[in-house]
Amino acid sequence: MHLRGLSFLLFFHSVVAESIQNDLMSFRTLPDVWALKYNVHIHDRARISPGYWFVAPYLQMDPDSPTNLFDPYQVGPYIYDGDGMLIWAGSRMFENRNVFDFKVVNSLGETPFLSLVSQHSFDAQADNDNGHGVILNNQYDIHASIPMRHDLGAFDIHEFNVLDDGKTALATFYKAHDIDLAEFNRPEEMTSILSGGFASINLSSQEVEHSWDCWPQIPLIESTLFGPDSPTSPRPGWDYVHINSVDKNDAGDYIISLRFTNSIYLISGQDGSIMWRLGGAGHATDFEQDFTFSKQHDIKFLESNGTRHVVSFLNNGSDELNNDEEVSCAFIIEIETGTDPNTARVLRRYNRPDKRLTRLRGNAQVLPNNHMFVGWSQKGYISEHSAEGDVLMAAEFESDRFSTYRAYKFPFVGRPSAPPDLIANVWGTDESHMVTTLYVSWNGATDVASWNFHARARETGEAVFVGSTNKTDFESMHILSGYLDFITADALDAQGIVLGTSEIQRTTTPDWDSAWFRGETDPHPDDPSVTYANGEPQAPSMRDYDEASIENAQASASKALEMATEAYNVVATIGSLVAFIVVACVLCALVVGYGMLRDRRRNKQYAQVPSDEQQSWMK
Ligand SMILES: *[C@@H]1O[C@H](CO)[C@@H](O)[C@H](O)[C@H]1NC(C)=O
Ligand SMILES: *[C@@H]1O[C@H](CO)[C@@H](O)[C@H](O)[C@H]1NC(C)=O
Ligand SMILES: *[C@@H]1O[C@H](CO)[C@@H](O)[C@H](O)[C@H]1NC(C)=O
Ligand SMILES: *[C@@H]1O[C@H](CO)[C@@H](O)[C@H](O)[C@H]1NC(C)=O
Repeated sequence: MHLRGLSFLLFFHSVVAESIQNDLMSFRTLPDVWALKYNVHIHDRARISPGYWFVAPYLQMDPDSPTNLFDPYQVGPYIYDGDGMLIWAGSRMFENRNVFDFKVVNSLGETPFLSLVSQHSFDAQADNDNGHGVILNNQYDIHASIPMRHDLGAFDIHEFNVLDDGKTALATFYKAHDIDLAEFNRPEEMTSILSGGFASINLSSQEVEHSWDCWPQIPLIESTLFGPDSPTSPRPGWDYVHINSVDKNDAGDYIISLRFTNSIYLISGQDGSIMWRLGGAGHATDFEQDFTFSKQHDIKFLESNGTRHVVSFLNNGSDELNNDEEVSCAFIIEIETGTDPNTARVLRRYNRPDKRLTRLRGNAQVLPNNHMFVGWSQKGYISEHSAEGDVLMAAEFESDRFSTYRAYKFPFVGRPSAPPDLIANVWGTDESHMVTTLYVSWNGATDVASWNFHARARETGEAVFVGSTNKTDFESMHILSGYLDFITADALDAQGIVLGTSEIQRTTTPDWDSAWFRGETDPHPDDPSVTYANGEPQAPSMRDYDEASIENAQASASKALEMATEAYNVVATIGSLVAFIVVACVLCALVVGYGMLRDRRRNKQYAQVPSDEQQSWMK
């Protein structure tokens, strides 16, 4: 009795914990993952581009301490479809650690690949883990894990840009220098600075082929954060430029964004010299320009022929310290350097749909049909705009605890090497009223439209088709009449082609003695070739379960949950000794209530469809 009561209480504890975190989703087939829920606002469904969202939610920028790594998996790489339905939770694969810049790479082969930055560990030195640029194939197996050259510090989180040649990747780095402050007429004073730079990495040798450091080319005076009066600093020192993106054009030159100089620079691929500066708010610029910007992110070439460049970027206009503008926006800019004077003109401006400022991070992605997809970062806020600027869609995490530094949209085909996950449980109070409940999902698989289920009399027995269900969410549930065992699930695409099949799953049974089972002996699995001979179950069908009984069961369960929630809340707010007494009392009350519920049920003439709540507490 007391054992059953304990599992009863433990069960309610976990249910209550879930209800407290109701901005997260959990699934039976992915029990250790709590994925973020999206709120989606579709404005013009017909015009939205096809594709999936690639995001990497994090709680805090710095690596979490190791204890937090044992929380249910939440942060890491995730794929959602255009309606916010979960497609892939990659947090387990990356041990609940922060990843950044998660996106699709199409230049590495016929199939799409995925790339991301896996952040250095909490104790990078002890773990000997300074972070990596990681490439996955579309089966979610690691294709490459690329370290940063040791003298260039940790693998920086801002950028891992696999170029269209499929042979090289660009990454940013931060490097410490110890310098004197002669530039500020304080030659006798020493300080440390963190300079910014970029590295071009050969993907096949994993060697840095080429690197560029802003120090000493970019003087301290260009920084908006440090000046002649700034106190000196020990290591790591002044983060005086804060590099946050790098891209390369066909001419071999590099465009970089330095957030703390409010400027965009073109760096010669030939000799590393600064070819021009496009200056933001209050900063020196080589251009006549019809716009201002500041605290910018994610500068990417859309076109470039050496003298005329079209670039996209995110203009914060704001940061932790200052607001320079009223609203953040994504820009498409045309830069002319073959003219006198050189000019920079706005081609398109896409304001943040909620007219607010993006204070922390973000990115702007021009889609193949010229739509603009913007990651505004905080709360995972994303939006898609038509080329002319109509807001077609916006979405954000239900939780305000998480952000994603960048967010992308790409068409993608995911075919996990791991098979679909299937769970089967059986229920019933007598042999003639058994039901088998199935839960199925396939983490990372795109294009699954429906599921077919087969059961067998024994492991090597004939596979008999026992049912199917359309996929409408990450996980699908299906109920079969009878006690079926040795079950498999086939994932089918919209054409009915089988994309993958689960392993054969044994059906979990309850402890029949305490599960109100009325038979003399424990029930045995059906032979589906008999009970499902005509595709129709010969056993009693679901028609026997009237709706009133289902509602009744649900009402009882939610009443019990209410009681347990109250108990949990009390426990959460008072000391442990008192809590123990309260819990003990509540436990007694619940056990008595449970007995009454059970007696009442036994008097009923109809069979119960057990809810999952009942299922768990009986185990
Ligand atoms: C990249 O590395 C591969 C293998 O080490 C080498 O064959 C190739 O020449 C390198 N590419 C460049 C551009 O150096
Ligand atoms: C680049 O394109 C512009 C506009 O089409 C053109 O005027 C210019 O001559 C081109 N420059 C080069 C180097 O091809
Ligand atoms: C806005 O400024 C904040 C604060 O510096 C910065 O972290 C963020 O990256 C910027 N975002 C954009 C979109 O520029
Ligand atoms: C399953 O999806 C197909 C194709 O969209 C549809 O025709 C069918 O009615 C759906 N079945 C159920 C039970 O919803």
